[in-house]
Amino acid sequence: MPARVLIADASEDMRATLRELLELESNIEVVDETDDGSEVTALIGPLRVDIVLLDIDLSGADAITLTERITTQYPTCGVIITSPAADPERMRAAMQAGASDYLVKPLSGPELTGSIERIYQRLARVKTAVLPGGEEVTLPSKTVSVYSPQGGVGKSMLAVNLGVCLAQESGKNTVLVDLNLQFGDVDLMLNIMPERTIAAIIPRLNQLDADLMESFLTTHPASGLKVLVAPTRPEYADTITVFVVEKILQVLRERYTYIVVDTPSVLQDTTLTALDHSDLILLLTALDLLALHNTKIALEMMQKLRYSEDKVRLVLNRSNADVGISVEDVEEALDYPITAFIPSDGRVAVTSVNEGEPFVLSHPHTQIAQSIRRIAYLVMGREEEFSPEVALEAREESARRARRGILEILFGSAQ
Ligand SMILES: Nc1ncnc2c1ncn2[C@@H]1O[C@H](COP(=O)(O)OP(=O)(O)O)[C@@H](O)[C@H]1O
Ligand SMILES: [Mg+2]
Repeated sequence: MPARVLIADASEDMRATLRELLELESNIEVVDETDDGSEVTALIGPLRVDIVLLDIDLSGADAITLTERITTQYPTCGVIITSPAADPERMRAAMQAGASDYLVKPLSGPELTGSIERIYQRLARVKTAVLPGGEEVTLPSKTVSVYSPQGGVGKSMLAVNLGVCLAQESGKNTVLVDLNLQFGDVDLMLNIMPERTIAAIIPRLNQLDADLMESFLTTHPASGLKVLVAPTRPEYADTITVFVVEKILQVLRERYTYIVVDTPSVLQDTTLTALDHSDLILLLTALDLLALHNTKIALEMMQKLRYSEDKVRLVLNRSNADVGISVEDVEEALDYPITAFIPSDGRVAVTSVNEGEPFVLSHPHTQIAQSIRRIAYLVMGREEEFSPEVALEAREESARRARRGILEILFGSAQ
């Protein structure tokens, strides 16, 4: 298979030259080009990019930060930095960020193709080494944390319904991790009876791999969502350290495309670890002054941690509540755009909790369910495909298929 290369370069001429050079090689395929650094990570997964040719002066993102993000998020994707000068400082920074090579422009054909070849072969060895039997890599995977500094604002409601929705509609392996280590409640909200919780991992931590991890997960039968449930007793919480959380998230990435993390409002170190490891943080807020005040502080903290605006998305819950604060007031007060809205629906939300059935399943046609489904499409990077009707049709179609499946099992295949 040819190496799939993405050209990310500020100069149009340079992109054309590189494309010409690379297209001469039968074992290299240029899959796309861009001049916008902010676009690069989003292209890697869908285009199955093996190597990014990254101009150090690309606009839209700092090339070093971008390199670090790519190599962490896509360990089997290589980055070659191209630069107008051999600047030792930047070279060192690039290598530390995980770049595979640093080439100085103007580039010669053999130098460039030689570098791509070498890196591609090395990455191929990494892929087969990590994956027994040389299976296709299931990465990229996406970790999404639902966080709010405020309790009772709807984090678990969002995490549970989002997890179920992703499991159903993406057709990809999806897992929900309850990091409310003292008072986790997603098992109640999903009405599942876990045999084991996150606490059971501790004595087996050294052997923990993707296979062993499965034995700690509980399946939600209606959606196929896997759940790592919080400890049954609050005193176990202390045994779950930052290291444990890191290891769990890392191992889950090997098998799960979507990892949804429900967090407590207290910003303990394990919560911060999850936020650090997340590709996306859904920062949940509400139309009340206390929530807004706390959200502002959380946003400032995340900016200090250098989380990008792409990573931290503000979600307004109970957005239609009539409380004398408008959506515009919120955006202005927080100086941050709101990405998604969830309307208030006490009847549906509360019945759903009481009955242990997520409302995206029990009341799929309601606005509150549709608002979560829209967030799921955003997480999948398929926002443009979202229309409530399409989503419903897809759901009904899969239900029909499921029924047909059962009929076929019962009565033999269709005549
Ligand atoms: N949009 C909403 N409309 C109505 N009730 C909601 C909404 N969001 C959350 N709730 C209710 O608020 C309560 C607290 O939500 P929960 O998800 O447990 O909050 P958190 O996890 O942030 O502490 C639950 O009873 C939930 O059903
Ligand atoms: Mg909660």
